[in-house]
Amino acid sequence: MKHSHILPQAFCLFFFILIFLVQARHHHSHKKHSHSHSHKSYGTSPQPPAPYYNNASGIFDVRSFGAIGDGKKDDTESFKMAWDTACQSQLEDNVILVPQGFSFIVQSIIFTGPCQGDLVFKVDGTVMPPDGPESWPKNNSRRQWLVFYRINGMSLEGSGLIDGRGQKWWDLPCKPHKGSNVTALGPCDSPIAIRFFMCSNLTVQGLKVKNSPQFNFRFDDCKKVYIESIYITAPKLSPNTDGIHLENANDVKIYNSVISNGDDCVSIGSGCYDVDIKNITCGPSHGISIGSLGNHNSKACVSNITVRDSIIKMSDNGVRIKTWQGGSGSVSGVTFNNINMISVRNPIIIDQFYCLTKEHCTNKTSAVFVSNILYTDIKGTYDIRSPPMHFACSDSVPCTNITLSDIELLPSQGDIVYDPFCWNAYGDLETLTIPPVSCLLVGTPQSLLDYDIDHC
Ligand SMILES: *[C@@H]1O[C@H](CO)[C@@H](O)[C@H](O)[C@H]1NC(C)=O
Ligand SMILES: *[C@@H]1O[C@H](CO)[C@@H](O)[C@H](O)[C@H]1NC(C)=O
Ligand SMILES: *[C@@H]1O[C@H](CO)[C@@H](O)[C@H](O)[C@H]1NC(C)=O
Ligand SMILES: *[C@@H]1O[C@H](CO)[C@@H](O)[C@H](O)[C@H]1NC(C)=O
Ligand SMILES: *[C@@H]1O[C@H](CO)[C@@H](O)[C@H](O)[C@H]1NC(C)=O
Ligand SMILES: *[C@@H]1O[C@H](CO)[C@@H](O)[C@H](O)[C@H]1NC(C)=O
Ligand SMILES: *[C@@H]1O[C@H](CO)[C@@H](O)[C@H](O)[C@H]1NC(C)=O
Ligand SMILES: *[C@@H]1O[C@H](CO)[C@@H](O)[C@H](O)[C@H]1NC(C)=O
Repeated sequence: MKHSHILPQAFCLFFFILIFLVQARHHHSHKKHSHSHSHKSYGTSPQPPAPYYNNASGIFDVRSFGAIGDGKKDDTESFKMAWDTACQSQLEDNVILVPQGFSFIVQSIIFTGPCQGDLVFKVDGTVMPPDGPESWPKNNSRRQWLVFYRINGMSLEGSGLIDGRGQKWWDLPCKPHKGSNVTALGPCDSPIAIRFFMCSNLTVQGLKVKNSPQFNFRFDDCKKVYIESIYITAPKLSPNTDGIHLENANDVKIYNSVISNGDDCVSIGSGCYDVDIKNITCGPSHGISIGSLGNHNSKACVSNITVRDSIIKMSDNGVRIKTWQGGSGSVSGVTFNNINMISVRNPIIIDQFYCLTKEHCTNKTSAVFVSNILYTDIKGTYDIRSPPMHFACSDSVPCTNITLSDIELLPSQGDIVYDPFCWNAYGDLETLTIPPVSCLLVGTPQSLLDYDIDHC
């Protein structure tokens, strides 16, 4: 989540909420409007779709609501009508069908719940937004494209493709990878492709998502999320294209998925707990990250996170915990188990000095407390430009109870250049490691009470 330096995060959040509220209101009033409108038009429309409210099958094909899917026409209104109809359907099971063999263009939409029955949003065809910032409608949010809001009990699935058409957004001169002047950036918003906000009991399954302008998936304030067999791709140099970002999310499972992109495959933000990540093939990318946490002196709480049985390849990082100076709260109870690294630059890294503009970062007296971190069965190769293990903990708050077991990391080519690095990091080796780690401090620090720790 690297865009956060562009605007102070608090401001971002405020701005987002503002946009969200304005949009939600728009959408809301629009919804009422389109309802009365569509009620009237049933009898008079020259191209009469099937009777929407009496469909005993519970299948709501977007084409029945006027969508064309020729890759040119804007089908936004049809998607909205299909959603509203399915969402209000009294049937127990309802399927919104985006059929195979068609390409639908839809603008930024907020699909709002709660809905009456369970919903399956089945994308078998292709869904695309308008192509780039120039064609993005002026009154649409530039921060999000497909938004699901207050939905309980939905499955987003199908064999289709969500194509974010990100290229023109990545090409904006203000993007960080363009080496642009940070003070001259101005707004550089790009939409998140798929966003879930205040949702529960979700399944996301089988979809392919490519070239998102920004994050591919973002879940905020969601619980009971099951993500299975998804394929996310974006180029290695596409900025901020995190695969799946979680924020204030709990009871999340991410299984059997393949992600390659220009930022983290999965990033876990503040307020997340009980997250299980299994069988992910990640890379090229920036790896799987917890963080960044504690930006702008914020308090962050993250606990009970497991990443296991996964492959990380050709990535800048493997498994990473990153926090800013000045934060508070804690990251605790994290297990990284059975991860195969292939040519990864920082396979194992804790970075409590995370910062994007070197000159603006000063060391502070508080930090997010990192403890109870277990690395077990982490094997493979690393890119020798960086040390294979890096535990840089804050001066003011040490990391404690880092456990290493069955670590075997070899240079992918050439000779070992850097030894493992530790700073203010306490922990144990359960087995010998390759390369050997001798820099962890033994036991627990004298008195954790001497440190400025704000527990969660
Ligand atoms: C109603 O269901 C049938 C299948 O039984 C489907 O072909 C038709 O498109 C559905 N109507 C709507 C409005 O989705
Ligand atoms: C944006 O403006 C168009 C045309 O004025 C209007 O049809 C549409 O509903 C507006 N969209 C939003 C999200 O306000
Ligand atoms: C979760 O949603 C599914 C449908 O997607 C439904 O069958 C199930 O009953 C829901 N479970 C809970 C606990 O709400
Ligand atoms: C960065 O932008 C500022 C304000 O626009 C300008 O004063 C400064 O010269 C720029 N620096 C570089 C290196 O372009
Ligand atoms: C791991 O995920 C891949 C990709 O979805 C899948 O093909 C494979 O069967 C999964 N492996 C296991 C053991 O589930
Ligand atoms: C940790 O999370 C897992 C789900 O990933 C859950 O099954 C387990 O009960 C949680 N452990 C604790 C101590 O809450
Ligand atoms: C912050 O502290 C670390 C560890 O003591 C040190 O390596 C780094 O240079 C310091 N950074 C600044 C900006 O003072
Ligand atoms: C150290 O961390 C492990 C998890 O990695 C946990 O099971 C154990 O209880 C922790 N030990 C202490 C003393 O907190």
